[in-house]
Formats: sequence, structure tokens, C-alpha cells
Amino acid sequence: MTLDSYPRVLESAAQWHTQLAAIKRDNPAVDFSWYGYDILANLWHIEGLLGSEHGSLFAQLAGQPVADIGAADGDLAYFMERLGFEVDVLDWPSTNWNGLLGARRLHQLLESNVGIHEVDLDSQFKLPRERYGLVFLLGILYHLKNPFFVLEKLARHTSYCFISTRIARNTAGGDLNLEQAPVAYLLDPQECNNDATNFWIFSMPGLKRLCDRCGWDVVAERRVGNVVTSNSSSPDHDERAFLLLRSRHV
Ligand SMILES: C[S@@+](CC[C@H](N)C(=O)[O-])C[C@H]1O[C@@H](n2cnc3c(N)ncnc32)[C@H](O)[C@@H]1O
Repeated sequence: MTLDSYPRVLESAAQWHTQLAAIKRDNPAVDFSWYGYDILANLWHIEGLLGSEHGSLFAQLAGQPVADIGAADGDLAYFMERLGFEVDVLDWPSTNWNGLLGARRLHQLLESNVGIHEVDLDSQFKLPRERYGLVFLLGILYHLKNPFFVLEKLARHTSYCFISTRIARNTAGGDLNLEQAPVAYLLDPQECNNDATNFWIFSMPGLKRLCDRCGWDVVAERRVGNVVTSNSSSPDHDERAFLLLRSRHV
């Protein structure tokens, strides 16, 4: 499969999406439920980041290991394996939708060689490998207590990183504008989706400064969702940032 053209990668992803849905349908989860959101949709958000300038990034990284951190059931990790990459999943059972049973079940069904590593990113963790070409850190940063430690650690061991996280232009009541300042808002445990594992909601300038101070150059950025009146807490004012980062260390 050619990695040179990202539109071709997306064609394969669309096929994989259909195949994976059939695999899950034909193998209903008995003692758990499959992760409830469309993980592969991230690949279409990433298209907007790569543009034509970085469209051959996957080809450039061929042969280098990839990590999917916060992978849920690993739909994306198993797709990257199909593209020919060696892949590690890093996730933590007590925060994972089904305690990693979904990822392990797919591993078995696909006869996969993806490494599944139980790593708590809220601890002073070690990465399973010394070097990665690419890390996906999608939809997890706002769940982490210590984003600085995680991003600094990754920058020392990884060339590129795709990151996505919830961001906000305002605080929940709309009373404080965050858009112009490099800040992070710390949520109350019940404030956002009644999910106490949600911690830090950055402003876009805050997120970019964090990445910069952790050793990353921001190569490309985009914002999706409520890009006008997003706030830190309410479900209908949800905005996400996607960044492509390049390490200054590696
Ligand atoms: C919202 S899901 C994101 C799934 C997928 N990456 C996506 O973007 O669609 C967040 C994932 O991060 C993982 N996670 C949250 N806190 C974690 C921690 N402290 N250590 C490791 N993984 C964690 C969860 O278990 C879950 O699989």
C-alpha cells in the first residue's frame, strides 16, 4: 500500500472502517461494550492538518514505530498496523471504556502484533520503546493531571506527534474570555460531562505555549466543533484543537 498519498490512506481507512464494523458486529461483546465513538474519524481531521505540504508524512515515517496513546479499542492502532507500521497501544484499564477488553479482543480477532501496554500516564511512566517516529495523542490530554510531564517525555522519544484536545474560548458562563491568553482552566470534578477524569481545558494560545515549552514545534493546527462560542464545560460549546507537532529534541 502506498503511503505517499494521504487521500489513498483515507481510502484504505474507509475500507477498514467498514471491515472493523463488520468484525465487531459478527463478534458481539459479551462481557463488555465496544468503545462508543468513532476513533477513525480522527484520520479525516488529520487530513486538514497535513494539507499538501505534509501529505507524505506517513511515507516519510515508514519503518519507524508508532504509538497510539489513549487508544480506547485501538481501531486506529490496528489500522496503522495494516499500513505496515510496528505499533504500540498505551492505555490504562481503569480509565478505558471497557478496561482494555475491546482492544484485547480485537487483537485476538485480528491476530495482531500490536503491543498493548498498560501505562498510567498520570504516573512517572516509562515508554515501552526508546524511539517512536510518530505518536497519536488524541482525545486524552484533557484527561491527564500532568500534561507537562507527558508532552516533555514524548518530545524526548518521538519525532512527530498528532495531538487533539478540548479547548475553550470562554469560561462556562461566558464571563471570562480565554482566547487571547496562554492559559489553562482547571475543571471542577463534576463540571464537564460529570466526568472527574476531565482536568485541564487550555485556550489555544495556552496549548501552543505548553507544546513549545515541552520541546515541540507546532507544524500545523486546526480547530473543529464550536469555533465561535466554545467554553470549558458545556457539551454544546465543545471545541477541539488538532496539532501536528515536531520534536526539537529528536
Ligand atoms: C476519550 S478517549 C480517546 C480515544 C481515541 N484516542 C480518540 O481520540 O477517539 C481517552 C482515552 O485515554 C485513556 N486515558 C485517560 N487517562 C489515562 C491515563 N491516565 N493513562 C493512560 N490512558 C489514559 C482512556 O483510557 C481512553 O482510552
